[in-house]
Amino acid sequence: MIIKSIDLLDFRNYEELHLDFEKGITILNGENAQGKTNLLEAVFLTFTCRSHRGSKDREMIRFNREEAHIKMLVRKEDREIRIDLHLKKDKNRGIAVNGVPIRKTRDYLGLVNCVLFSPEDLQIVKEGPAERRKFIDAELCQLDKIYLNSCTQYKKTLEQRNQLLKDISYMPELLDTLDVWDEQLVKYGREVIQKREEFIAELSEITGPIHEKLSGKRESLILGYDKNIGADEFAEELRKSRDKDLKNKTTGIGPHRDDISFILKTANEGEENLDARIYGSQGQQRTCALSVKMAEIRLVEKKTNDQPVLLLDDVLSELDSLRQQYLLQSISNIQTFITCTGLDEFVSHPFEECRVYDVEKGRIRKHGE
Ligand SMILES: Nc1ncnc2c1ncn2[C@@H]1O[C@H](COP(=O)(O)OP(=O)(O)OP(=O)(O)O)[C@@H](O)[C@H]1O
Ligand SMILES: [Mg+2]
Repeated sequence: MIIKSIDLLDFRNYEELHLDFEKGITILNGENAQGKTNLLEAVFLTFTCRSHRGSKDREMIRFNREEAHIKMLVRKEDREIRIDLHLKKDKNRGIAVNGVPIRKTRDYLGLVNCVLFSPEDLQIVKEGPAERRKFIDAELCQLDKIYLNSCTQYKKTLEQRNQLLKDISYMPELLDTLDVWDEQLVKYGREVIQKREEFIAELSEITGPIHEKLSGKRESLILGYDKNIGADEFAEELRKSRDKDLKNKTTGIGPHRDDISFILKTANEGEENLDARIYGSQGQQRTCALSVKMAEIRLVEKKTNDQPVLLLDDVLSELDSLRQQYLLQSISNIQTFITCTGLDEFVSHPFEECRVYDVEKGRIRKHGE
């Protein structure tokens, strides 16, 4: 899949922008705060219906304007898809595909796919479990609508159950209603656990060989699902922990406490496997993160039978030249947008199909023009 063109109107610092794209690599070069990430955000938002920065619609509308428009023309296999996204300050956003309004976001998600890679992603191994759960959820929600539903419902139910646990402390008669919430929590929680289990196993299979290459065959990486509770035990354990939950006024067990482990196996005989989250060096942790991210691209390809659009926000400068090269080689047939604050970092990588643009104060023009 490729993006053929993008039109922006009053989106972030872009008043009006039209750009045509081709396959291969597009480099967006410019100083800080000129609008490079804003353009990637426009793509990510249009593809996934959320901002990767977690911004609200009103924050993405150009200052002092009431609405913003993003139009994209995408070619997927031999089809052309026209996507119109309309952000409004105090109303719900509108989205249309080939002129037909989409009522439920869920029906739209999955039509087009992208993978975004930012410097924060390189931190995923050293950050806390909440960040890693966010990563699983973001990926799985994009790939699996059933998961999207179970995950959303689980989170809603959890919030309501936690509120009820608080309310019961001064309204004990509400205790009777807890069973209903527990039933829902277990129903959606089990689905979440089962999907995460499958996803991490699948991702681990792809990550292993990528990591071996990236580490020069010195190490292999196995991803593990560090689950808080198994799907089959959830109902029973939730019942058992009820008194504790009532005392603590919060739900102590469930997939909202899950984590992923990153186990490194070295090629050296006799050396123990190590958990990169706890014992990995900074370099090892970053390589693990890069392996997982690259595996994600392959997994999206496999699941969608198509190539996603790849957005690399400021990551190349964060990688050493070996890893840069490996990343660039493995994405050579994917339409990729790369942002950078200087072209020096590309000197050692002569791209064949590559166009360079300069980004300055919300305007974009061909490099050198
Ligand atoms: N709603 C908005 N309306 C107008 N301008 C905005 C809005 N939101 C953000 N901006 C401007 O966009 C700028 C940031 O743009 P962006 O994040 O794309 O920078 P960048 O080119 O990626 O820079 P860096 O290299 O530092 O990452 C901010 O400095 C801000 O002035
Ligand atoms: Mg940026």
